[in-house]
Amino acid sequence: MKKLRLLCIALLLMGEVSGQMKEAFVPLDSLESPIQGSHLNDSLPYALVAGGSKGIGYAIAVALASRNYNLILVARHYDSLFAAKKKLESAFPIHVEILTFDLSLEDSADKIAQWCISRNIRLKVLCNVAGLGGEKDYLKLPLDSLRYMVNLNIESCMALSLTLLPLLQKNAPSHILNVASMAGFAPIPSKNMYSATKAAVIYFSYALHYQLKDKSVNVSCLAPGPVFTKPSIRKVTKKKLGWFGMQMAVAPERVGELAVRRTLKKKIIIVPGTWARISSIVVRILPRKLATSMYNGLGG
Ligand SMILES: NC(=O)c1ccc[n+]([C@@H]2O[C@H](COP(=O)([O-])OP(=O)(O)OC[C@H]3O[C@@H](n4cnc5c(N)ncnc54)[C@H](OP(=O)(O)O)[C@@H]3O)[C@@H](O)[C@H]2O)c1
Repeated sequence: MKKLRLLCIALLLMGEVSGQMKEAFVPLDSLESPIQGSHLNDSLPYALVAGGSKGIGYAIAVALASRNYNLILVARHYDSLFAAKKKLESAFPIHVEILTFDLSLEDSADKIAQWCISRNIRLKVLCNVAGLGGEKDYLKLPLDSLRYMVNLNIESCMALSLTLLPLLQKNAPSHILNVASMAGFAPIPSKNMYSATKAAVIYFSYALHYQLKDKSVNVSCLAPGPVFTKPSIRKVTKKKLGWFGMQMAVAPERVGELAVRRTLKKKIIIVPGTWARISSIVVRILPRKLATSMYNGLGG
């Protein structure tokens, strides 16, 4: 029982650190020249990675590029998008389009879908990766920051899935890969909204998987534990979980590869790493009330 409790505590902390951003973001009002590039190479199918310039999104882009997908990468900052494009195009015989959009804004999904539809992009994979977590307590965050988190973590995933669905159906068999977190498997009191948004992504993905099965559009959901995409995540994981946390962590490159491999095999829930996978099963079995009370107080 003591071991089970320790495991659950570790899970909470893992979910917590999976909120990868140190500070809450202030939403950008607008971005100039959102659409970059116009030369399309239609000989290969396309995969769109929302949040594909860095971290897990970039690792997913690499795994797709190695399977001969042309890419459309979406993020806010042009420089990191351009750097990702250059690296990918020099490593693989593919074409990479880059679109600068703030996905937390209401009209971004429509504009991205219009861009793809008007070019009749042969879209076969949509990856909704961009998301925001954070170490701050829900009760200490301003409403604007929480709305931004909800818009980015849930709304953009829901909106891109819906607006790009006609193209995905047209190019079926196709795939949607949504990125949640292990934080979505159990309520984390201090990370209240973060775990709630990720739980929503998990439920949305389960439901959509069944709804689209007959249309040959697969829906998968990646729910990783700690992934060291930035030094702060490694630091917090080491501090709060020690040796166990370091065992739980999976390298971004491995997460990207496993996410793509299992999505193409039509797995619904993807939890990279043996320790994380076993832990995720345990935490899903626990009664919610018990999980919540065990996790309470560990998030600060
Ligand atoms: N790292 C972990 O430990 C961990 C664990 C579990 C789950 N996750 C989830 O995995 C996903 C990726 O995490 P990560 O650690 O790889 O993040 P990351 O390294 O910070 O990368 C985030 C990516 O999304 C883009 N992005 C962020 N905000 C955006 C916005 N408003 N509009 C458009 N693009 C935006 C970023 O580019 P710009 O900054 O240029 O916009 C970047 O390409 C998130 O959903 C996160 O919740 C992460």
